[in-house]
Amino acid sequence: MDLIQSILARAKADRQRIVFPEGTEKRTLVAADRLLADEIADIILIGKSSEIKSIAAYNGLEHIGKAIFIDPYDHPEKAAYTDLLYNLRQKKGMTPETAALLVENPLYLGCLMIKAGDADGEIAGALNTTGDVLRPALQIIKTVPGMNSVSGAYLMFTKAEQYGEHGLLVFADCAVIPNPTPAELAGIAVTSAHTARAIAGFEPRVAMLSFSTKGSASHAMVDKVVEATRLAKEMAPDIQIDGELQTDAALVAGIAARKAPGSPIAGKANVLIFPSLEAGNIAYKLVERLGGAEAVGPVLQGMAAPVNDLSRGCSSDDIYKMAAISANQAIGLKAAANNYR
Ligand code: ACO
Repeated sequence: MDLIQSILARAKADRQRIVFPEGTEKRTLVAADRLLADEIADIILIGKSSEIKSIAAYNGLEHIGKAIFIDPYDHPEKAAYTDLLYNLRQKKGMTPETAALLVENPLYLGCLMIKAGDADGEIAGALNTTGDVLRPALQIIKTVPGMNSVSGAYLMFTKAEQYGEHGLLVFADCAVIPNPTPAELAGIAVTSAHTARAIAGFEPRVAMLSFSTKGSASHAMVDKVVEATRLAKEMAPDIQIDGELQTDAALVAGIAARKAPGSPIAGKANVLIFPSLEAGNIAYKLVERLGGAEAVGPVLQGMAAPVNDLSRGCSSDDIYKMAAISANQAIGLKAAANNYR
């Protein structure tokens, strides 16, 4: 997979600091060891250093000593991070006592390190649920300015070379927002287009999917996609977006010519935006399991700094790749922020 090689090369050329809150988890340590050996990223491991080092020694991991170790109960920045958390969340009712407790939770600590500028990205979820990984990130790191929603995209490496970019497509949202509003769906479309450019490395052609093509059916669920398409075009006039489209009209040129003549992207879409989390989550798993595609993700998008959630069934190779993807996201977000200055 050439794309993964170029993602690794981009990460290596501009090393980012990636924090792993699940620092004593074996697959995480195997991935961290390989990232350090290959010099893909600087690694911060949250956990007791004695425990981490003994797991590393037991598993023959020789590079873990190059990581930075942060003991959540005892480190020099603990008081500063507690103040930071309290200041960020006091309007939401957080007390200093709650902040002092939460700062010892590795998932909160990782996000606080990013907020304080001490790390560039976080990966967790080998042990924790999606909700537990995302909640502190949404509360502390928040969305990138101008964006209203965090969502999860998959890079789908399919065997169907005739579709997308030689078989590669971006699918979203497959991970976060159960029933997006039109404004949230528009945000998902725009951030997925950015993911296509920054991570997948192609120019996006975004299809807003529905069970209707250009008015062939009428229903409130279709109206939502029509409105989201209008809002997305308004948010990002430089991106090619069209809808509402059925999947066949989005992907197949002959069907697009009949169902959506004149559409700039129908028949050649490479970014598929699903109307709900049900549709997106079910679709990516079907394409993966029945279609034999490789699904890389979820890549969380729309956050002010990358926090990526792993499946609890993930392999150390998944964690390794996701660290490189997070580093690419951090590089892209920093470049975009500099352009705004
Ligand atoms: N984008 C931006 N901000 C958000 C989002 C979002 N998508 N969702 C919540 N927030 C913000 C809220 O505005 C709130 O901010 P505030 O406290 O500063 O006001 C904060 O995050 C917490 O919001 P809650 O609604 O209280 O968060 P909740 O506890 O409901 O959790 C979560 C949010 C975890 C993302 C929830 O929507 C969720 O569980 N989604 C489904 C995840 C899932 O199970 N996915 C499928 C499995 S993953 C897979 O298969 C790949």
